[in-house]
Amino acid sequence: MVASLLLASSPRKTQVQTHMLAYDSKGSTLWTTMNNITTEATGAAAILLDSGNLVIRLPNGTDIWQSFHHPTDTILPNMSLQLSNNNNLSTHLVAWRAPDDPSTSDYSLGGDSSFQILVWNRTMPYWRRAALDGVLVFAMYQSKSGPIMSQTIVNRGGEFYLTYTVSDGSASMRMILHYTGMVKLLAWNSNSLSWDVFFERPGSSCDRYASCGPFGYCDATEAVATCKCLDGFESVGLDFSLGCQRKKEIRCGQGDSFITLLNMKTPDKFLYIRNRSFDQCAEECSRNCSCTAYAYANLSNLGVTVDQSRCLVWMGELVDTEKRGDGLGENLYLRIPSSSVNKKTGALKIALPVMASLLIIMCICLVWIRKSRG
Ligand SMILES: *[C@@H]1O[C@H](CO)[C@@H](O)[C@H](O)[C@H]1NC(C)=O
Ligand SMILES: *[C@@H]1O[C@H](CO)[C@@H](O)[C@H](O)[C@H]1NC(C)=O
Ligand SMILES: *[C@@H]1O[C@H](CO)[C@@H](O)[C@H](O)[C@H]1NC(C)=O
Ligand SMILES: *[C@@H]1O[C@H](CO)[C@@H](O)[C@H](O)[C@H]1NC(C)=O
Ligand SMILES: *[C@@H]1O[C@H](CO)[C@@H](O)[C@H](O)[C@H]1NC(C)=O
Ligand SMILES: *[C@@H]1O[C@H](CO)[C@@H](O)[C@H](O)[C@H]1NC(C)=O
Ligand SMILES: *[C@@H]1O[C@H](CO)[C@@H](O)[C@H](O)[C@H]1NC(C)=O
Ligand SMILES: *[C@@H]1O[C@H](CO)[C@@H](O)[C@H](O)[C@H]1NC(C)=O
Repeated sequence: MVASLLLASSPRKTQVQTHMLAYDSKGSTLWTTMNNITTEATGAAAILLDSGNLVIRLPNGTDIWQSFHHPTDTILPNMSLQLSNNNNLSTHLVAWRAPDDPSTSDYSLGGDSSFQILVWNRTMPYWRRAALDGVLVFAMYQSKSGPIMSQTIVNRGGEFYLTYTVSDGSASMRMILHYTGMVKLLAWNSNSLSWDVFFERPGSSCDRYASCGPFGYCDATEAVATCKCLDGFESVGLDFSLGCQRKKEIRCGQGDSFITLLNMKTPDKFLYIRNRSFDQCAEECSRNCSCTAYAYANLSNLGVTVDQSRCLVWMGELVDTEKRGDGLGENLYLRIPSSSVNKKTGALKIALPVMASLLIIMCICLVWIRKSRG
């Protein structure tokens, strides 16, 4: 593979074209990319900085183009990916088609309109990072032998960016969207002279988007992550392809209540309600019968000044839920019919005396056996 860079100048204008070309062994072009920048100045130079950023720099020091603003499949340390709020493909990472084919594949990664990072397979979600809460704004990943890679979501004038820094300031780590659609963090191994993978998502099989169906969730606290149904639900079919359904229908206005599910990756497809306290958020959900769940977080560490509250409510299905194994989940408040609460405590009230009498009977039997032996 060959990369070529053309800097074409005329006396009055500098026309800069950057080409990246891939040739096969016979010399025919497999793939090319081109950017044209036109400026009045002369004497532009292309400089590859130590950070890995390729810049086109004018003699007075102004960079008129930089590769960090045109991400491909990689985020290098100190580079930032805009988590745009529209489908602006220029700020998406796009995976390679194959290990040796850098042409674009069907997998892309970017932010959606609501604090989430997604990997898409064409237009279908393939993997999703939970909606930002106070904890997910900042994450640290320790490689096996090397320094720590920190992932941060930063707020610059209301726009959110995903960025990485490396504890020793080097460019020895990077994040890529692999050609398989997986998000991978890599660290340079100076012994084997290759990149080691030290983190990847989706991890377990049920970590893929919505793989446990509506109202199902992936329990990643188990030794082998498995699909389960949320409390009050039972599976529709033999597997989880159709998800789960309520054991008992919600009858609106009959005093439904909410149970707290701990350590959850919040589901997708929520409504974001601005400027609410926790109690107001709970009220927002409980007063509307179509609301199945809510979650609340404080985003003050994201540098949001106007509205730090993050009230999410779900109207209808809950998809792509997970019980996290890493302790980084949050509380999800799930609506259940009030009678199922009574049934649970009721069952316990019956079970306890029965168990107690069984124990007494066992004791009497043991005493009797001993007596008859002795
Ligand atoms: C750049 O310029 C060349 C010729 O001047 C043109 O063929 C090409 O389409 C331009 N590329 C872009 C991305 O504008
Ligand atoms: C550098 O030169 C360019 C083109 O002449 C100009 O637009 C830019 O403002 C200059 N930058 C500085 C820092 O002088
Ligand atoms: C994408 O976003 C960038 C930066 O916000 C902007 O310059 C560019 O015009 C946008 N492209 C499209 C196709 O909307
Ligand atoms: C991606 O989507 C295509 C259909 O567009 C499908 O055939 C393929 O299996 C999907 N890949 C994965 C890994 O799910
Ligand atoms: C990233 O930025 C920090 C602070 O500006 C600097 O110390 C570090 O060397 C940079 N890292 C790379 C890989 O450029
Ligand atoms: C937030 O809600 C409070 C009342 O609950 C109101 O006084 C305030 O103006 C609201 N702020 C914004 C930015 O909407
Ligand atoms: C409940 O929420 C749904 C979906 O947002 C909405 O269409 C409906 O009007 C709401 N009902 C009440 C009573 O607020
Ligand atoms: C969020 O947390 C900060 C710091 O703990 C606190 O000052 C702020 O009032 C909280 N905001 C909300 C909306 O709860």
